[in-house]
Amino acid sequence: MNDKIILFEKKIREAIGAVLHQEEPDTLFAPVRYILSIGGKRVRPLLTLLAADMFGADPEIALEPALAVEIFHNFSLLHDDLMDHADLRRGMPTVHCKWNVNSAILSGDAMMIESYRHVTKVPSHLLPQVLDVFSNMAMDICKGQQYDMDFESRLDVTEADYLEMIRLKTAVLLGSALKIGAIVAKASPHDAELLYDYGIHIGLAFQLKDDLLDVYGDPLTFGKKIGGDILANKKTFLLIKALSKADEVQRAALERWITAADYDPEEKINFVKNIYDQLNLKIIAENLIEKYYLASLDLLSSVGVADNRKKDLCWLSENLMYREK
Ligand code: IPE
Ligand code: IPE
Ligand code: MG
Ligand code: MG
Ligand code: MG
Repeated sequence: MNDKIILFEKKIREAIGAVLHQEEPDTLFAPVRYILSIGGKRVRPLLTLLAADMFGADPEIALEPALAVEIFHNFSLLHDDLMDHADLRRGMPTVHCKWNVNSAILSGDAMMIESYRHVTKVPSHLLPQVLDVFSNMAMDICKGQQYDMDFESRLDVTEADYLEMIRLKTAVLLGSALKIGAIVAKASPHDAELLYDYGIHIGLAFQLKDDLLDVYGDPLTFGKKIGGDILANKKTFLLIKALSKADEVQRAALERWITAADYDPEEKINFVKNIYDQLNLKIIAENLIEKYYLASLDLLSSVGVADNRKKDLCWLSENLMYREK
């Protein structure tokens, strides 16, 4: 275990516990407190604190924007679970299942607004720059989420389309979390940009791994429904590769399942997973994850601080690659 990360996780946990903790009405804020209290890995605020720490700043100055990033992430999950028809998150019922669709929409909106309240607490001379990164990130996520939706009903999505979609919906948030930490720590623009690119590469690997766990994860550890992406016809790396590597018979069968209107969900999941297995896609995806992970380390090594200041970020990114949840 890593002592600094344990300490930073504690700071984040305490700060999150205080978010909107007494605000009324309860019908609006109970879902907010619920999603924030059921945890998650809290990787993104950790990235902000570790980035600030790396440049020698007191991580306290990065705590408000770190909170903003985590609240924004949780807001995006409320809407994402609605869009993805997901019933389970972090091993618990999703907000739209526990409450209702309107709750997921409006409590999500409230969280988005709350995230802006926190990000605007950075020192005023840094605010224009930080707000620019934050708002660009927010708009990129909307774009990525829309591509994700659009791709569900298409069969011609390429690997490049997929990579751009996950860059927008996932990687940009990790990159921005790091960049904001660098900005509040007064890193040079060059280093802040390197850290952003490092986060993009970690983020691409992160979403590839999420897609892999969606098929091959342990439901108890992963906390989400296994096979959810298959049922939603998500154009994950696995499905795109399967469509391109399949022989004629496999491809016809895959297309039949993807376009079927009436089917047994478990049967569909098993069938598609079986094709993935036949085509060896788990290993192919793992190799791509490794490729982005190694590229991220190269970017991190170019950042202009001593190597021993990078070891906590290295530790965290390595752990993310081998995670099971
Ligand atoms: C889930 O993010 C959304 C993705 C980008 C895959 P996490 O896997 O970080 O979810 P939590 O916050 O730890 O639950
Ligand atoms: C997550 O993509 C992207 C955002 C929430 C913006 P997923 O839809 O794959 O995330 P999970 O698997 O539901 O956490
Ligand atoms: Mg989802
Ligand atoms: Mg989604
Ligand atoms: Mg997923």
